[in-house]
Amino acid sequence: MIDLTLNNGVTLPALGLGVFQSPPEQTAAAVRAALEAGYRHIDTAEAYRNEREVGAGLRQSGVPRDDVFLETKVWVSDYGYDQTLHAFDKSAGKLGVDTLDLLILHQPVPSRFATVLAAYRALETLLADGRVRAIGVSNFMPHHLDALLAETSIVPAVNQIEVHPYFAQRDVQRANAAHGVLTQAWSPIGGITFYPGWGDGKRSALDGETIGAIAAAHDVSPAQVMLRWGIQQGRSVIPKSVNPARIAQNIDVFGFELTGDEIARIDALETGVRGGPDPDQPRDAFFDVVIDEA
Ligand code: A2P
Repeated sequence: MIDLTLNNGVTLPALGLGVFQSPPEQTAAAVRAALEAGYRHIDTAEAYRNEREVGAGLRQSGVPRDDVFLETKVWVSDYGYDQTLHAFDKSAGKLGVDTLDLLILHQPVPSRFATVLAAYRALETLLADGRVRAIGVSNFMPHHLDALLAETSIVPAVNQIEVHPYFAQRDVQRANAAHGVLTQAWSPIGGITFYPGWGDGKRSALDGETIGAIAAAHDVSPAQVMLRWGIQQGRSVIPKSVNPARIAQNIDVFGFELTGDEIARIDALETGVRGGPDPDQPRDAFFDVVIDEA
C-alpha cells in the first residue's frame, strides 16, 4: 500500500473502500471483508445511509479503530454552523467512534454559499477541537474552491471528485494541486458510467477495449488497471464493491506498474462527459436527499 500525506501532515492509505450505493444489509460484511483483505481506509457519507453498518463492520473485523482511516461527508441538508456540528455528532454516533480522520462537505451549493461557509467553519472548529484529524470538500470545481479559500484560512486537505478514464476533470485536479489539496477519486473504476440513467449504459469503462488490452498485457483486470492509473497519478482512490472477491482484487494493485505509454493511452479516453451530477446544478433527482434523522 502507498500512503499519501495531506497538507496538514496527516497520512492515509491511497486506496480505500467506497460504500456509495452499498445496500445497508451488505455494508457491514463488505467493510469486514475489506479490512480482512488489508484495507485500512473507508469512505462513507451521511447521505449513503449506511454509516451505522460501516461502524458495525469495523467492530466485527476486530481491527483496532485507530488503525483505520475513516472518512465521512456532511450532507447539504445539514449545512450551517450548528447543524454541521450536530451532523458530526450524528455521524460519529452512527459509526460508533469519537473522532473522524476526515470530514468533508459532500458538495457545494452555489445558491446557498453562506450556509456552505458556515458548514466549513464548523469543520474548522471540529479540527481545532481534535474531533476530526482533517477537513475537506467534495465535488468542488475550481470556482467553488476559490470562493471558499477567499473566505477561510484552513485549506481543505481533500477534494473528492468524479475521476475515471472517461472523465478525469484535469482542470479540477490542477486547481487542487495548485492549492495543496489532495484529489480523491470517486467512481475510480467508472462505476458511474453504467448506472442506469447516469451513463448511457453501454460505455462502461470496465468494458473498454483500451483498458482491456492493457489489463491483458499485465494479466490483471480492467478495474485493477484503472485503480493503478489513479494511484500512479498520485490520487487517492475509493472503489466501491460489496463482493469479497472484487474487494480483494481491487486492493491487489501494488504488484505491477503501468508504462508512460499506457498511462497516456488511458488519459486519451477522456470524453469530457460527466457521469454524476453537475456541481453547479446539485439539486437533481438523485442528490435531492433530505436527511432528517436526529
Ligand atoms: P460490486 O459492488 O457488485 O462489486 P466505482 O467505485 O468506480 O463507482 O465502481 C463500483 C461499481 O463497480 C460497482 O457496481 C461494483 O459492483 C463494481 N465493481 C467493483 N469492483 C469491481 C471489479 N474489480 N470488477 C468489476 N466490477 C467491479
